[in-house]
Amino acid sequence: MIPTAGGTTPEGNPQGREDCPELARIIEMIAQENPLQKKRIEGFLNTRGPEYWSFAEGLSQVLNHSFITSDAARAEAARAYNKMCMDFLSEQIRFKKTGKYRIENSAEAVTHVYNDLDVMRYYMVGLLVSYMFWPNHYELFRFFLNNLPDGSIDRYLEVGVGHGLFSSTMLSTYPDVAGICIDISETSIKTAKETLKTFQADPDRLTFIHGDYLTTEIAAARDAGGFPFIIMGEVLEHVNDAKAFMDRTKDLLAPGGTVYMSTCANCPALDHVYHFHSAQEIRDLMAASGFRIVDEFAGAAENIPEEDWEKELVTVNYCALLEHA
Ligand SMILES: C[S@@+](CC[C@H](N)C(=O)[O-])C[C@H]1O[C@@H](n2cnc3c(N)ncnc32)[C@H](O)[C@@H]1O
Repeated sequence: MIPTAGGTTPEGNPQGREDCPELARIIEMIAQENPLQKKRIEGFLNTRGPEYWSFAEGLSQVLNHSFITSDAARAEAARAYNKMCMDFLSEQIRFKKTGKYRIENSAEAVTHVYNDLDVMRYYMVGLLVSYMFWPNHYELFRFFLNNLPDGSIDRYLEVGVGHGLFSSTMLSTYPDVAGICIDISETSIKTAKETLKTFQADPDRLTFIHGDYLTTEIAAARDAGGFPFIIMGEVLEHVNDAKAFMDRTKDLLAPGGTVYMSTCANCPALDHVYHFHSAQEIRDLMAASGFRIVDEFAGAAENIPEEDWEKELVTVNYCALLEHA
């Protein structure tokens, strides 16, 4: 049994779609903006098992009662999700022709995405919604929940906190944990704080650091002898030097600690820079930085046999639980 988003069970402990009125509101909102999306979502929902409904209804409750509290906010959120889907699709079409990502340096992403409040806002709200409706994103979050540290932990680090779903879940799951969240985008930090509020998590338990993970001092790590748990979801593909990111993560991980990381191969986006060509390339990088893969998930975004993923430039979503080798 996996905990629900935020660690709380939504009203009525939903067992099936008929128990999910908040989820239905989100789907209707998206459909009004783009009926085709509704068809895709329906296809996904038809294949869901029992644990999905609690998660999706819980997250929908959060969205409906925080980000989407007025008609204007509903329209904005629907646009955010649809726009993010369209952006991914058009980048995908371009990538299949060129074999290359649009930008080659993360400085471009900082200027055109992370520092652009409007772009970053729709991107983060859209990404949050995608954990409910994109099959592979849901699998990433499910993997995260299933691989949370056993017992209690007193501290953790999240790199690239983004929309805040993962840290909100940490605070709800571990009553005594304190977290450090670092992100290069101020909009991400603001959005994460809003998500936390909705999960009724105490923001004082988190310290937010606005800065580049590679160059910003994280004094708490030095003082406490490293972190027993580090979360780094969907960040490596955004940076120039993924190896330097993993090397730093290795240095900040306490002895016996674990890392949840996710990234993707052949996954073009407005702000993706580091191009992994296959899941194996990701595994090799983890090994080169001194990590052992305890468990992993790798899933293709298209229904194509695994031996053809690399040749056909198929997007592969990947996540792993790591420990010191
Ligand atoms: C796609 S979001 C990931 C959000 C969330 N962690 C998840 O797994 O869905 C990537 C986040 O990484 C942040 N980021 C990118 N480069 C960074 C860097 N060099 N240092 C810190 N944060 C960075 C971005 O601002 C953004 O909030």
